[in-house]
Amino acid sequence: VPSNPQSDYLRAYELAWNAGQFEMLERLASPGYRRRSYRGAAMTLQELESSVTAVRDGFPDLRTDVEDVLTDGNRVVLRWSSSGTHLGHYLGASPTGKDVVVSGVTIARFEAGALIEEWVTWDARDILTAVGVSTVGRNPANGMTAQVEDRLLRDVHRKFVTGVTVVTTLDDTTPRGLVVNAFVSVSLNPALICVCIARASATHEVLMRAQAFAVNILGVGQEQIARNFASSRSDKFAGVPWEPGPLGSPVLFGNAGFFEARISERVQASSHTMFIGHVAAAASQSAPPLVYMAGVLHDSTTLRALPSES
Ligand SMILES: Cc1cc2nc3c(=O)[nH]c(=O)nc-3n(C[C@H](O)[C@H](O)[C@H](O)COP(=O)(O)O)c2cc1C
Repeated sequence: VPSNPQSDYLRAYELAWNAGQFEMLERLASPGYRRRSYRGAAMTLQELESSVTAVRDGFPDLRTDVEDVLTDGNRVVLRWSSSGTHLGHYLGASPTGKDVVVSGVTIARFEAGALIEEWVTWDARDILTAVGVSTVGRNPANGMTAQVEDRLLRDVHRKFVTGVTVVTTLDDTTPRGLVVNAFVSVSLNPALICVCIARASATHEVLMRAQAFAVNILGVGQEQIARNFASSRSDKFAGVPWEPGPLGSPVLFGNAGFFEARISERVQASSHTMFIGHVAAAASQSAPPLVYMAGVLHDSTTLRALPSES
């Protein structure tokens, strides 16, 4: 039976995406095959295979359904939809456990019976966007390696004064948290805040799954809380009074103020993830804030305000 490359293509496509088998696609593709998307560089067949394998590792239950097929001369157009659960590492992002559905259109072009090009309305990073993670590309030119000596780096960081926060979240019903001074107000309108969390910390994987977090700005008198939550003990919350915020994140008693935010983006930054959240609740309390300067906690009530320009 003479086979028709256009109809073989559909089978080859499903074998690749649903079974991770590429033999049929390899037989159909011309040596000059390229896969292009609306952004990013064109892929060779080998790069496509690695990319499909990576998606299937990140989403082990990945299922792609072709919902529409249009054939027009030497072109085949597929409208497809893929769903899967983010249970494995993908493009540097830890599993979030989220269910993801993405869909798109692939236009396949044939030349002399061989698949010469696929063009797709999808980019691998769209999946990460769908799970709330976006990846900042590494710069291969500088390899992101620090050229500044560690010691100097630390010395300069010591010149920057911050407050001290305990970032908390709920792991199912278990309160979790850690000390963070890498906290920043991203924007007042929309109300966005950001915390940078080391991937090596135990709280990181909980934040990858969580919907929300709270930033407890520690007050004078909470020095012991600061020491406690800078440890990696599993019983950090023992004897620490707290109550859930509107989204469930632990709000510690005695704080100087807190924000609770719904996680909107997770940006990968090498060893850390920047968790960006939309503020859903906030309160300012009477306690003056703790100040962290040059590795030491300070009492903000003894700071001397400088005269403002008149
Ligand atoms: C003053 C201070 C500031 C800190 N800031 C951060 C931070 O911004 N991000 C971070 O990931 N860890 C930060 N840490 C370290 C974590 O609090 C520490 O590694 C903690 O043990 C992690 O706890 P976990 O492993 O239970 O999540 C800071 C520690 C201190 C003492």
